[in-house]
Amino acid sequence: MLTKDQVMEVLKTVKDPHLHKSIEETNGVREMKITDSFVSLKVALAKINTAEQMKVQQEIVHKLKEKGAESVGLRFEALSEEDIADLGGVPEAGPSLLSKESKTVFIAVASGKGGVGKSTVSVNLAVALQRMGKKVGILDADIYGFSVPDMMGIEDRPKVEGKTIIPVERFGVKVISMGFFVEDNSPVIWRGPMLGKMLNNFFSEVDWGDLDYLILDLPPGTGDVAMDIHTMLPHCKEIIVTTPHPTAAFVAARAGAMAIKTEHDILGVIENMSYFESKKTGEIEHVFGQGGGEKLSEVLGTELLGQIPLGQPYEQSGFFAPSVYSEDHPTGQKYLDIAKKVSEKL
Ligand SMILES: Nc1ncnc2c1ncn2[C@@H]1O[C@H](COP(=O)(O)OP(=O)(O)OP(=O)(O)O)[C@@H](O)[C@H]1O
Ligand SMILES: [Mg+2]
Repeated sequence: MLTKDQVMEVLKTVKDPHLHKSIEETNGVREMKITDSFVSLKVALAKINTAEQMKVQQEIVHKLKEKGAESVGLRFEALSEEDIADLGGVPEAGPSLLSKESKTVFIAVASGKGGVGKSTVSVNLAVALQRMGKKVGILDADIYGFSVPDMMGIEDRPKVEGKTIIPVERFGVKVISMGFFVEDNSPVIWRGPMLGKMLNNFFSEVDWGDLDYLILDLPPGTGDVAMDIHTMLPHCKEIIVTTPHPTAAFVAARAGAMAIKTEHDILGVIENMSYFESKKTGEIEHVFGQGGGEKLSEVLGTELLGQIPLGQPYEQSGFFAPSVYSEDHPTGQKYLDIAKKVSEKL
């Protein structure tokens, strides 16, 4: 027989679909009777007689049966206006990037280790997709080591309208980064659970509008953020960045293995810092070795989407964006080629 505590444990995992809080948190359990293995419940939700209510009903029944209930009787009532106000009100039906109807493609840019150019690739891939006429956003998921605002030369801050955050737009790309929310470049010192919450806010509280692509610049390695992203975005695609050195490819393979484990579809590999081409002689030197990208794509059974040489963007008059290659820069062209491949693959 189930105990009341066990039933409450289950209800802790079921959310009021409009308040985004668990039914335990909303004090939504109004009656509970347990007779043998029959559980009878009355649950209060912010809104009733909705499609969401049906889902909650199925979820509760399913979860209680998993815990051993033989049958479950459920009735619903609406939370009072006061209760809803006390709980912070029903957030306005915002733009829901995470809803099933959303057609936004999520692309996470990952690598096995730091400093290989994930952020540079994320920014330039986003800009290149935008140059192709796509609607693009970039989410700097490197909460501690954010770098996207500096790379794109962003000095504006997002506007807040009511409860929604409006991303900053730069080169036609919508950008959100932790960097916008800390003062004077001070370090972020949260623990793990806050990380996941912050990421969640970046989806639920940001008005991304209707996007074709959202690029996620991941922190280095295969840690918590990658797992959180998997939970939030099970259909996320992945691009793995590596340098050309064969050992770098081994390390990057771990990020790839992580993608496979989380069932993220790998779109391909980008080899960065592939070679140095002398402006004077046109001679190519493989400063960081050779073959890493190709090897990694073989190991992961995917495609080498492109090889980006060493080199800085042109200095451009009128604005400052230290990591964005212009369209007429050879590297800017390479990113356009990659963006085309990516959009064809999807
Ligand atoms: N192709 C390139 N040519 C020259 N410099 C590059 C190139 N790609 C990246 N860099 C530089 O290398 C450094 C690391 O790049 P970036 O920050 O993009 O890497 P990352 O993988 O995101 O690093 P982290 O793991 O710290 O997030 C930066 O200073 C960047 O400007
Ligand atoms: Mg980075």
